[in-house]
Amino acid sequence: MTRLAARYAELIDGGELRPDPQQAAAVAALDDLQDRLEARCADRGWIARLLDRKPDRTRGAYLWGAVGRGKSMLMDLFYETLKIERKRRVHFHAFMIDVHAALKKARQCEQGDPIATVAQTIAKGVRLLAFDEMVINNSADAMIISRLFTALLDHGVTVVATSNRPPRDLYKDGLNREHFLPFIATIEAENDVVALNGPTDYRRDRLGDAGLWHVPNGPAATAALSETFFRLTDYPPSDQAHVPSCDLALGGGRTLHVPKALKGVAVFSFKRLCGEPRGASDYLAIARTFHAVIVVGIPVMGPEMRNEAARFVTLIDALYEYRVKLLASADAEPDGLYPAGDGRFEFDRTVSRLLEMRSDAYLDLGHGSDATTAGD
Ligand SMILES: Nc1ncnc2c1ncn2[C@@H]1O[C@H](COP(=O)(O)OP(=O)(O)OP(=O)(O)O)[C@@H](O)[C@H]1O
Ligand SMILES: [Mg+2]
Repeated sequence: MTRLAARYAELIDGGELRPDPQQAAAVAALDDLQDRLEARCADRGWIARLLDRKPDRTRGAYLWGAVGRGKSMLMDLFYETLKIERKRRVHFHAFMIDVHAALKKARQCEQGDPIATVAQTIAKGVRLLAFDEMVINNSADAMIISRLFTALLDHGVTVVATSNRPPRDLYKDGLNREHFLPFIATIEAENDVVALNGPTDYRRDRLGDAGLWHVPNGPAATAALSETFFRLTDYPPSDQAHVPSCDLALGGGRTLHVPKALKGVAVFSFKRLCGEPRGASDYLAIARTFHAVIVVGIPVMGPEMRNEAARFVTLIDALYEYRVKLLASADAEPDGLYPAGDGRFEFDRTVSRLLEMRSDAYLDLGHGSDATTAGD
């Protein structure tokens, strides 16, 4: 038994994870991949690398299934316990943003094929690339991904990915999908496709019945939200002082400090999100990155807070579009948040969305936009 299988067994024995046959099968597949990757990296000294220009490939893995089935959790365990140096784990969306930026640069200053140049740069540092939440919903990504992946595989990079869709459903109904089909064929040929699609949505279980919307703001609401945060992230509450933070890239070199960010869950104050000048693109960056967002300190907004109310509307639109789970503390239920002022009419839509975002049907949806559009 290697480290991944041992670690998984430990978590089951310790009661942190519940036994799950589909997860056990995925662990076996990933465990085998760990062995192959580690053996290969150990074998290949610098002479072998020098002589062998086209390295042989190690088959990767593609984990797919409905939300909360443990895909990211297993990928993280696999990644943490994998004993090779050259590995990289990225959120797929962030990776594609980097790729587009690198392509733009390559087009400006290079001759030849920019995709080949970018693939070479990426491949230089890595043997294993782990992608969380692979989703293709715009034609710009669909057009480059196939060639980029083939090039990465040719460089000997092994890919592990998680997705809510099986490969055959990626970019479903997308524009010019026929150009995308070779990518699906490549994934199916080069990866073990593993379904993690059991009956239990563990994230949902962890949300429990604690409630998503806490009224009013105050110590009881804070305690309830904090309890949910620790349950969602598996972080020990005793170590509250050291919850990681992050700086989220917003584009154009700007960043947004996220005071608590862990395992796709972020905590913000209403003040930081809606009290400062921000626009839709900032909120979309948040919505794409986090599957659950906790907003604390939502006040009742008077007419003088029309700017805050307008930003709040934009924020909720973005979270809703990306099916982000929203948890909040507020001084009123949604319909009492903005009783009067400019844009009150539009606010009705937000109230309705907020109510829908608490429904079972909404909570069962996966993270991410399902809109397949020509652009993004
Ligand atoms: N067997 C299990 N027993 C208990 N909790 C589990 C189990 N598997 C996963 N979890 C927990 O369920 C939550 C959701 O898991 P995870 O984030 O890996 O889901 P996912 O499949 O990646 O979902 P999504 O498609 O939304 O990204 C995590 O907190 C994880 O630790
Ligand atoms: Mg996930």
